[in-house]
Amino acid sequence: MTKKNELDFDKVLSKNLTRRDFLKGGTLAFGASAFALSTGTASMLVSQSAKAGFWQGNDALLDFKPVSANILDTITIPSEFDWHRVVSWGDPIFPNGSWFNHYTRGDAKSQSLAFGDNTDGMDIFTKDSRTILAANNEYINKSIFYNNRDSKLPENADDIAKGKAAHGVSVVELVQKKGKWQVQKNSEFNRKITADSPMEITGPAKGHALMKTQADPTGTKSLGTWNNCGNGKTPWGTYLTCEENFNGYFSSSDPALELTDEFKRYGIKHKDRGYGWGQYDERFDISKHPTEPNRAGFIVEIDPLDPNSTPKKRTALGRFKHENAEVVVATNGHVVVYLGDDERGEYLYKFISKNKYSRHENNQNILDDGDLYVAKFNDDGSGKWLHLTPESTGMASKAEICINTRMAASAVKATTMDRPEWVAAHPHKAEIYCALTNNKNRGIKPNAGGDATSVDAVNPRKGNKYGQIVRWNPLNNDHTSSQFNWDLFALAGNPEVHKNNLKSGSNNITKFNMFNSPDGLKFDSKGGLWIQTDGKYSNKDDFAGMGNNQMLLGNPETGEIKRFLVGPKECEVTGLTWSDDKKTMFVGIQHPGEKGYSNFPGGAGTAPRSTVIAITRKDGGEMG
Ligand code: FEO
Ligand code: CA
Ligand code: CA
Ligand code: CA
Repeated sequence: MTKKNELDFDKVLSKNLTRRDFLKGGTLAFGASAFALSTGTASMLVSQSAKAGFWQGNDALLDFKPVSANILDTITIPSEFDWHRVVSWGDPIFPNGSWFNHYTRGDAKSQSLAFGDNTDGMDIFTKDSRTILAANNEYINKSIFYNNRDSKLPENADDIAKGKAAHGVSVVELVQKKGKWQVQKNSEFNRKITADSPMEITGPAKGHALMKTQADPTGTKSLGTWNNCGNGKTPWGTYLTCEENFNGYFSSSDPALELTDEFKRYGIKHKDRGYGWGQYDERFDISKHPTEPNRAGFIVEIDPLDPNSTPKKRTALGRFKHENAEVVVATNGHVVVYLGDDERGEYLYKFISKNKYSRHENNQNILDDGDLYVAKFNDDGSGKWLHLTPESTGMASKAEICINTRMAASAVKATTMDRPEWVAAHPHKAEIYCALTNNKNRGIKPNAGGDATSVDAVNPRKGNKYGQIVRWNPLNNDHTSSQFNWDLFALAGNPEVHKNNLKSGSNNITKFNMFNSPDGLKFDSKGGLWIQTDGKYSNKDDFAGMGNNQMLLGNPETGEIKRFLVGPKECEVTGLTWSDDKKTMFVGIQHPGEKGYSNFPGGAGTAPRSTVIAITRKDGGEMG
């Protein structure tokens, strides 16, 4: 839309001022459909300071006194709440497991019986009043995980097996003892799904030539899931785990191997990211098994309540660097899944099931048949879902669209985005939010497919350092509609360092709540929007005053945002769910000390460990 590298501040404000009257709440978010305001009015509005602590428009949302940013190596929450550690990387989850060894940091055997590393998306499932947690274990930080090796890298087959066993999904039953949640080690629900667990390939790509390997000439069975980032939960009670940076585990033993366009688009290179799997497990060697990467990058459906079930790779939901999978049932009964591809200049998708959800029937394979769409955001605040079909994309089959989905999206000229992270759907109305975390390439260079990433209204900042949260309403409140209207709920920024320009952020960003790189997004049952960050924690320059990564609560009605939690040093806050009675909130603290400066949660002298914590109210009330 624009040849300029960055939109004018006034222009974005005047074009995208909210269609909702956020001014009533003392705050302002950018919107898309009120064109009437003059640029002068807009500038005046944004220069007003939002009133921190002013929480109006929805009395039901969790109320608390916001916490200040800090750089402490612990959890900071408002004083009317308590927190405790539930489970950390390396904690045994079976009776025959061994306690985490802070010196060796475990081996393949101990890790195979223990909670995985880098906790991420998670959800709680309840059966006969029992509480079962399914949690993603996204990746490992080599310098922490292999701290017993001088090289800080895997050095032998056992190290590789330990690494693979720390990836995937941990399923554990939790019990509450004296008010604190802990793993019930002898539960029949406890299960580890790792990079070596058998998977079933389902949907359009099942059995396609591109899915066949020497080990699986049928193209229907693969091994393992890894780099499991965000998640989803279906109304029929299953868990969706989302394969994100799956590419970084493949390597080529042949340095002369020519990389295909498909490999290039998905970031598959001769070298892996130091995990070393290809040296000990040939299926990760692309010179020997070039179709193996086609079997990763999917949404995987798991039944956490059936420990004997085989996870299913649902290829109908496309193959890309999946962030999470937000499932809603549209008013007409079709199941809609919103999906982000977290890479600079990649796309935002949705899936619509062919069949309708039924409360009484078996919805088991409903995610195998349906259509994929990719989002186009127009600068006037309207938007359209572009249907990915052989006709619209020029691709040979639906199977190919489901395997090389990024190419399909490029073919229909969807909107390149500033790294779509989690998508969250409002529980009480047809309104969806997506965190666009940041994008240093915006307005600077194209995506890996060569698609332009010029600044536009939804991605309005060149070299976007701070990120934004976009939201949209489908036409007629129908999630299956191909049309929507959008606005920006928040443009993160630093109003202390930058004055009256796009880097100062939208007016609901203040010196009291500023943050960067929104990533995790989830609604609570009351309609509160929880925002988790995965950003820069330098606390200086552009990021001065933001402190460690954090979790905030946004009010969709007023636009107000309040900081609820600050994480320990060098962590990302990611993963959020609630106990069935809503009295406990579970929060994921991922990779504290990723650069070597944290001893969370054990304190001085202990290894930093990704950890699921529980937060409760001192008065015993609900947590959202
Ligand atoms: Fe694993 Fe895009 O975060
Ligand atoms: Ca994320
Ligand atoms: Ca992130
Ligand atoms: Ca991370």
